[in-house]
Amino acid sequence: MEQLCHVLFVCLGNICRSPAGENIFRHQLEESGLSDRIACDSAGTAGYHIGKSPDARMTKAMRNRGYQVTGGARQFVPADFDRFDLILTMDDDNYRDIIAQARSGDERKRVRCFTDFCAEHEETEVPDPYYGGDEGFEFVADLIEDGSAGIIAHLRKTRGL
Ligand code: 4NP
Repeated sequence: MEQLCHVLFVCLGNICRSPAGENIFRHQLEESGLSDRIACDSAGTAGYHIGKSPDARMTKAMRNRGYQVTGGARQFVPADFDRFDLILTMDDDNYRDIIAQARSGDERKRVRCFTDFCAEHEETEVPDPYYGGDEGFEFVADLIEDGSAGIIAHLRKTRGL
C-alpha cells in the first residue's frame, strides 16, 4: 500500500476558503476512491478566528452544492511542514506568509498556489470573499471544485495513486 499523502489548504482566517478547500477536496477524494491514500486538513495564516466553525455564508454555498462542512479554525504552525507533503495557499499574501515560515528548500517546494491546479479558470488567486456578497462565496466554490480535481490528477500522476 502506498504511503498516505497529506494535503493542507491555507487561507487567512481558516473560516471561508481553506475549509471549502478541505471539504470539497475530501468529497472528491471519496468519489475517486482515494480517501485511504490521501488525507487533508486546513489552517489560516492569522489567528483571528481560532476554534470557530466555517463561515455561515461559505457553509450555505457548500451545502447547496451537496457538500458536508466540518472544521474548526486553527492557525498554521511551522510544525505543519513536518506533517504535510503539499501545502496549497489561496492567495499571494498567504503564499508569502507560508514561504516565510519554511525552514529549508525542501519545505519551500511543498508550498504551491492552489490556482496552479485549476484547469477551467485563469485566476491566479482565490479571492477573499469575507467582505463581499454571496456571489463571492459561489465563485470560491467554483474555483475550488476546479482546482481540487487538478490536485487529484496531479497526485495520481506524481505519486502513482
Ligand atoms: P478566509 O476569509 O481567509 O477565506 O477564511 C477571511 C476570513 C476572515 C477575515 C478575512 C478573510 N477577517 O478579516 O476576519
